[in-house]
Amino acid sequence: MVERASELWAAVDGARRHGGTVGLVPTMGYLHEGHQSLVARSAGENDLTVVSIFVNPLQFAEGEDYGTYPRDLDRDRELCAAAGAGLVFAPSTEEMYPQAPITSVAVEGLNAILEGEFRPTHFDGVTTVVAKLFSMLGPGRAYFGEKDYQQLAIIRRMAADLSLPVEVVGCPTFRESDGLAMSSRNVYLSSDERPAATVLWRGLQAGRDAVVGGSRNPDEVEAVMAAVLAAESKAAPEYAAVVDAASLGRPVVLEGELRLLVAARIGRARLIDNIGVDLDRL
Ligand code: PAF
Repeated sequence: MVERASELWAAVDGARRHGGTVGLVPTMGYLHEGHQSLVARSAGENDLTVVSIFVNPLQFAEGEDYGTYPRDLDRDRELCAAAGAGLVFAPSTEEMYPQAPITSVAVEGLNAILEGEFRPTHFDGVTTVVAKLFSMLGPGRAYFGEKDYQQLAIIRRMAADLSLPVEVVGCPTFRESDGLAMSSRNVYLSSDERPAATVLWRGLQAGRDAVVGGSRNPDEVEAVMAAVLAAESKAAPEYAAVVDAASLGRPVVLEGELRLLVAARIGRARLIDNIGVDLDRL
């Protein structure tokens, strides 16, 4: 494990000088099987896989869970090694931000919809730290989970707009056996809230069934998903949306590749999930 940016560059440069490819899996730690699948995919596709573990203060707003975000570095290191990581980069906040940054990367428009309506400063914090990690490391590929679908789309757009020499690779969501998407924040759910958390998956499936069943009206599909979320007394729904999978724009009539997305609070946990439906492949 390295904690300093200078050590990181030296380690990665060593691999690159010998013609090796470098994959980066950016995380905030408290890893689960979903993260491990990203690490394993990177390890299969690159000579060196680096996992960054950094709870990034820039992407949390006042009153969010920055202070209580779950952390377990020793366990994370074991999980990284087991999945094939060559190096863990776990910098301190002072190492990442030696001075309060006055430069930020914003993917305008995409940062303000869906999650952005509820967390207006979140994505600028994400794109700023991811751009910084890309600069610190120079990976040829970087791996992100589809569980944070909007984040993945925004990072793809950032890389394209800034011509960053990195391939952004999206990887499928990992789920518990009852459909709940794996997330570090699931640990916030109490034992009586845990069954209620499947409502996100149930809402998405109902939305998908409506599309597959012939609905081409986004209002109708969103209403189906919202009704499932509203029926769960322990959930406080935030949004249920259907968007174009590439642009994240809201279609007038449903066609092509779509993404259905939901968000809800259950107790202390704010959970998000999404699912794809490709109308050209039904
Ligand atoms: O998805 C996450 O864990 C974070 O948003 C990321 C990409 C590591 C940036 O802090």
